[in-house]
Amino acid sequence: MKILIINGPNLNLLGRREPEIYGARPFDDFFRELQAQLHHVSLEYFQSNHEGALLDKLHEAGFEADGIVLNAGALTHTSIALADAVAAIPAPVVEVHISNVHNREPFRHHSYLAATCEGSIVGLGLEGYRLAVEWLSRRVHISRKLEGNE
Ligand code: DQA
Repeated sequence: MKILIINGPNLNLLGRREPEIYGARPFDDFFRELQAQLHHVSLEYFQSNHEGALLDKLHEAGFEADGIVLNAGALTHTSIALADAVAAIPAPVVEVHISNVHNREPFRHHSYLAATCEGSIVGLGLEGYRLAVEWLSRRVHISRKLEGNE
């Protein structure tokens, strides 16, 4: 089972960027731990600060991965193109935000992605990624069972 985590702009700075909001842990460190714990999942990670690169990755992985966890950073609140890409691909996508965007500035309250994603996890820190991966892997497992492929 292949699940991809995609992080958007500025999330390469996790651990150094506004730690009072996003925490002090670098994402690579957290990702390695997650990979070791969820060994039944082939877990991959992609980060880019560029909208086009994120679109290309969604197009590529969206037709081969079993699920995608997407934190599009600030593009969440601006990008109709990313929302269209999520709608265009068959892979289920879970939207994650580390901070609780709903108790921050009003411009963070709206997500163009939310309507096209399976669901959203906000405000639970890096733990949100783990919950999203676990949910996706259970969802894939259940649908494979229903289809008789397991
Ligand atoms: C974020 C929330 C966004 O509003 C912000 O622009 C980010 C990070 C989060 O994970 O909390 O870059 O997506």
